[in-house]
Amino acid sequence: MSGNSASLVARLMSGSRCSIPVVVWSLVGCLVMLHLYSLLPHKGALSGELQIRPGRHFLELEEVEEENFQIPPPRGKRSPRAAKRRPKKSTTLIDEFLDESSQLRHLFFPDLKTAVDPANDMGNDSFYYYPGRIWLDTEGNPIQVHGGGILYDERSRMYYWYGEYKDGPTYQPHKKGAARVDIIGVGCYSSKDLWTWKNEGIVLAAEETNDTHDLHKSNVLERPKVIYNKNTRKYVMWMHIDDANYTKACIGVAVSDSPTGPFDYLYSKRPHGFDSRDMTIFKDDDGAAYLIYSSDDNTELHVGLLTEDYLDVTRSMRRVLIGQHREAPALFKHWGTYYMITSGCTGWAPNEAMAHAASSILGPWETMGNPCVGGNKIFRQTTFFAQGTFVLPLPGISGYFIFMADRWNPADLGDSRYVWLPLTVAGAADQPLEFEFGFPLWSRVSIYWHKKWRLPYRWSG
Ligand SMILES: *[C@@H]1O[C@H](CO)[C@@H](O)[C@H](O)[C@H]1NC(C)=O
Ligand SMILES: *[C@@H]1O[C@H](CO)[C@@H](O)[C@H](O)[C@H]1NC(C)=O
Ligand SMILES: *[C@@H]1O[C@H](CO)[C@@H](O)[C@H](O)[C@H]1NC(C)=O
Repeated sequence: MSGNSASLVARLMSGSRCSIPVVVWSLVGCLVMLHLYSLLPHKGALSGELQIRPGRHFLELEEVEEENFQIPPPRGKRSPRAAKRRPKKSTTLIDEFLDESSQLRHLFFPDLKTAVDPANDMGNDSFYYYPGRIWLDTEGNPIQVHGGGILYDERSRMYYWYGEYKDGPTYQPHKKGAARVDIIGVGCYSSKDLWTWKNEGIVLAAEETNDTHDLHKSNVLERPKVIYNKNTRKYVMWMHIDDANYTKACIGVAVSDSPTGPFDYLYSKRPHGFDSRDMTIFKDDDGAAYLIYSSDDNTELHVGLLTEDYLDVTRSMRRVLIGQHREAPALFKHWGTYYMITSGCTGWAPNEAMAHAASSILGPWETMGNPCVGGNKIFRQTTFFAQGTFVLPLPGISGYFIFMADRWNPADLGDSRYVWLPLTVAGAADQPLEFEFGFPLWSRVSIYWHKKWRLPYRWSG
């Protein structure tokens, strides 16, 4: 390779003359180097823990699996609820998905007979994830952690999965209102293997009587996420708090001494004075934590540093992805680069995910394109009929993550399904939309569709 990439780019940018073949081969060289670099085994932050070299089992996770649906001819009548929910003409399969009387319903929402039931011996199906199927806890009840996220607790060496407990009736508060379930609370489940989940109960409960309280059941509590603060030894929960019409647009904060609660609710507010709806929090390697939220009527995201006790935001905040209308942010980090998966804003209807990358969490963030691989075109355009909520790094396996998403069921939100799929960061980004430096610095983020998959045999929590 002639010269280093920085000087090459400088030459390209300054428009100085150099022969085309040299430029092309240098660029190819850079990309090959980047690619090789991304394949190198890596000692993660979790040194001392099991380190697995990506091998055959990982290649299986990256297999491209196609999905073929037979779409029945369009019928004259749709259920009135489905018609109301999606008045515009659009892809038939999304209409079918939103129509609770569709003949294809079982493809998106398979019934209890096919449930994943770790408490019963599932034979050869043990440890397999089946995205979209009902997933039972150790007591045989469907897991209730919608819009959730996972905390790995080093002290107990357990995974804790938190999310919205929505096992109540779905209804429309008024004609123009979105379908909702009253707040029940934040559910918590624990696991050692990321497959068998024990219900730890509701760790932050709705308020039944006091209707001026943020957690009154008539309000909205969405996307709770928990991180641990080493200095204060507290588990800190952040969540989206709203009224039924989504006009309050606040964050809420709660805190507990134990990962299984109970959490004490502290307060709500508009962070940095801005409206805040879909949100997540991210704890960096250095212990600094950040709030990422959709703002300015969901037109942009804001990234803000939290205080050292994680109980509030500081004044340090940046507006990112301005005008891109993204929500449902899920952040992760790989080799010093920050990545984020977001969705578009179409209510409970699914839409296309985008992957973004940044070398500083405060931006600038660049949009790389749709990370979904396999399935079929409509699967990829709808994030496999789901919306992201969290990306979990697989401990000990560098570059491998679990993408966690919700397949919302607008007719019965408590019956919404979990779509977990393998996510990898490797290879050159393929769909550069707006590269600052003129060539892609980032690796490709890929989410692979599988009807059925499991973590590698050698992986153990
Ligand atoms: C499990 O797999 C083995 C080997 O493929 C097969 O012989 C056996 O019948 C399977 N058992 C069940 C319960 O499916
Ligand atoms: C109701 O909730 C509000 C807001 O949290 C609080 O200020 C008030 O004291 C509560 N009232 C009662 C009776 O608990
Ligand atoms: C929400 O909006 C509807 C219709 O505009 C209104 O009737 C209702 O009172 C509002 N509810 C709240 C909690 O603001």
